[in-house]
Amino acid sequence: MSLKTSPQREVFATRGAFIFAAIGSAVGLGNIWRFPYVTYDNGGGAFIIPYLVALLTAGIPLLFFDYAMGHRSRGSAPLSFRMASKVAEPIGWFQTGVAFVIGIYYAAIIGWAGCYMFFSLNQAWGDDAATFFQSDFLNLSDPGISMEFVPAVLVPIIIVWIITLGILLLGVQNGIAGFSKIFIPLLVILFLALVVRALFLPGAAEGLNALFTPDFAALTDPNVWIAAYGQIFFSLSIGFGIMITYASYLKKKTNLTGSGLVVGFSNSAFEILAGVGVFAALGFMAAAQGTQVSEVADSGIGLAFMAFPTLISEMPGGGLFGFAFFACLVFAGLTSLVSIVQVPIQALREKFRLGNKASIILVGGVMAIISILLLPTVTGLYVLDTIDAWANNIGIVGGAVVGLIVIGWALRKLPVLRDHLNAISSFKVGWFWMIILGGVTTLVLAYMLIHQIITYATEGYEDYPTLITGVMGWGMIGLLVVAAIVLTLIKWPKQTIDEAEAAIADSAAEENLRNETKGA
Ligand code: ALA
Repeated sequence: MSLKTSPQREVFATRGAFIFAAIGSAVGLGNIWRFPYVTYDNGGGAFIIPYLVALLTAGIPLLFFDYAMGHRSRGSAPLSFRMASKVAEPIGWFQTGVAFVIGIYYAAIIGWAGCYMFFSLNQAWGDDAATFFQSDFLNLSDPGISMEFVPAVLVPIIIVWIITLGILLLGVQNGIAGFSKIFIPLLVILFLALVVRALFLPGAAEGLNALFTPDFAALTDPNVWIAAYGQIFFSLSIGFGIMITYASYLKKKTNLTGSGLVVGFSNSAFEILAGVGVFAALGFMAAAQGTQVSEVADSGIGLAFMAFPTLISEMPGGGLFGFAFFACLVFAGLTSLVSIVQVPIQALREKFRLGNKASIILVGGVMAIISILLLPTVTGLYVLDTIDAWANNIGIVGGAVVGLIVIGWALRKLPVLRDHLNAISSFKVGWFWMIILGGVTTLVLAYMLIHQIITYATEGYEDYPTLITGVMGWGMIGLLVVAAIVLTLIKWPKQTIDEAEAAIADSAAEENLRNETKGA
């Protein structure tokens, strides 16, 4: 391991490899664990409307934006923003920081799911899954920050990090894309089988009614719209550097927008499938207990780790069903976690010209250590919940909106990005894309951000003590801002900037060629 090794920019060998990796990144815990309860919490069937609006007005346009940023300069988030302008660089670092903190807790949820795969086989939770999850498994204390470890949770988190860094060490093509090519088809087959099984359970229709019966009053609630945009960002892996980083590994001529449409719609299709499967199963559970779906659809983390185990105990063949369900969470989670961790790795690799392996071991290692110190403790669940809320609702949204304001409004770079996309892509974007992104999306996101900041500042979060929201919420965001400024002040190696400039010149040549051909 040498710090002096000049990093080689890795590439996805084919567009297919990239699409698999990008779907692997998009389809994650957000689809299976988060989407069903967010939908249910936000008006059930009516949520589909804001969700689709968010997908079309913000999700897909921002996905194209991220692709164009990363591909044009073949750079990580900070380098791509730096190549747009020096003043924009902190935004790239902030987005990278958000990925850093998300990776830290994301690994813990995969670790829990890994344990639950095996717990399912003999239904280790007995007849009270909620108590088992909170008291026996997580050994949860009162909300706060503690360093008291829970060994049963520590080991799986360490294993998750070893697997993740192992995949990353195999490289972008063999590791990230290779792993996604195997696990995404496996995930789809396994998950489809689970959904079909769930649909045949008695009571499934009731579950689907609960999910899809719209509560139109919910549409007038700004929080529902905020939740829809937040879900789309998290789920599509946009606004926190992932798609910028992945696009930077693409070859010069790659159909960016065509790939984006495949990725965006596959992700949402999987998400809705997950909603159907989970609620069909909850319908069965409600019927078995003679109660309403609303009674069994515990919100948040509870849905996967408290409601689902109860269901597994109640259904015939539940052990195997549970094993497969949690295996899906693990597969989907791992293919996303590698993409999240790759964001800071690539950024620091470029800024400090670290070798490929050195950057993975150093950056991934630091993330793993923080994750292992903070999460498998008696307060790990509260730490996770707080970081998740702030990172998503303030971090991702904030990074995306400031990025759009600076790149779109202040630097007026959207036409440049549009030309870049159009020079190489099948699906052309034009003024509509720019207006949606620079107008509607930016304004909606700015509103969301302000609303969220005011809500957290005035109402706090989940009755958690100020110590935890102050340190893990506000403190974490503050630290990311400071780190972004400090990292920006460090000078880029000349070679990194030269390479990015060469990539941009190459892109410009491609655009000129296209314009000449069009003019001829
Ligand atoms: N896009 C990833 C997910 O949905 C982060 O979980």
